[in-house]
Amino acid sequence: MTRRRFLKTSLAALGVGTAAGIYTWRIEPHWLEVVQRRLPIANLPEDLVGLRLVQLSDLHIGPRVDDGYLRQCFQRVKELAPEFVVYTGDFTSHETRVFEHARRMFAHLPLGSRGTFGILGNHDYGLRWSQAHVAQGIAAMATDAGVRVLRNERVEIGGLHIVGLDDLWAKKFDLAAGLETLPAPGAAIVLSHNPDTADLPGWGSYSGWILAGHTHGGQCKPPFLPPPLLPVRNRRYTCGEFELSGQRRMYISRGVGHLQRVRFNVRPEITVFRMDRA
Ligand SMILES: [Fe+2]
Repeated sequence: MTRRRFLKTSLAALGVGTAAGIYTWRIEPHWLEVVQRRLPIANLPEDLVGLRLVQLSDLHIGPRVDDGYLRQCFQRVKELAPEFVVYTGDFTSHETRVFEHARRMFAHLPLGSRGTFGILGNHDYGLRWSQAHVAQGIAAMATDAGVRVLRNERVEIGGLHIVGLDDLWAKKFDLAAGLETLPAPGAAIVLSHNPDTADLPGWGSYSGWILAGHTHGGQCKPPFLPPPLLPVRNRRYTCGEFELSGQRRMYISRGVGHLQRVRFNVRPEITVFRMDRA
C-alpha cells in the first residue's frame, strides 16, 4: 500500500468511527420509536375493547438522561391521549438529589384518562437496590403525580385486573401476594420490572400478559447477534414479545431512558397497545 493510500484509508476509517460514535451517543439514545401493538386479553369487558394502554419503562430520571428529551417523550404520549398508562419500573437512577429531580420531572408524567399504574424497578431502590426509604419516597411522589403505584398488589378498573409486582433485585418481589386475590377467570395483566421473574415458580393458573422492562434491550446490539450486555439470567429475554409456559406471554420494552448514554440498533420505545379480546 502506498503512503497516500494508507493515509486515505486511515482517514476514512476515522471518519466512519467518529460518525458511529456520534450516532450511538447523540442520535439513537433520543430517537424514540412509538411501537404499536395489539394486546389480546381473555375475558376483556366489551367497553374496554379498542382502548389504548401505553407502556413507559425505564425513564431513569437522573443525571444521565436529558430532561428535555424525557419531556418530549411525555408530550408524545399526552398527544396520543391514551385511556391507560403503565410505568414498568426504574422511574429514576440514583443520585444525591434524586427526590428533587424526581419531583420536578414527575409533574410532567403523562396519565391515562381511565387510569395510570406503576411499579418500581431496582434503580428506584437507590444504592445497591437496598434503600427502602428511597423507594418509599419515589413511590409517594409518583402517587402524588397521579400514578397508582402497585407493590405486590392488584387493582380492578372497569373489570380489568392489573397486578403490579415489586422488584426482584431489591428482594421485594412477592408473586404470591400479587396474585393472591386475582379472580380466575378474569381479565388481567401483570406488571413486573425484571423479565427473569417470569421464570420463577408460583404463577399458578395465570395465563395472561406480563409487561416488563429492565433490559433496555441491551442498549447496543450488533446486527444479527444478541446484545452482549443484558442484565438477566435468561439470555433469551432481550426485548419484544415472548411466549412462556402456561400460555403466558411477556412483552419486554426497550425502555425510554438509559444508564450510559449509548444506544446502537436498540432504539428507545414507548409502546402503544390496543386492547382486544383474546
Ligand atoms: Fe432500567
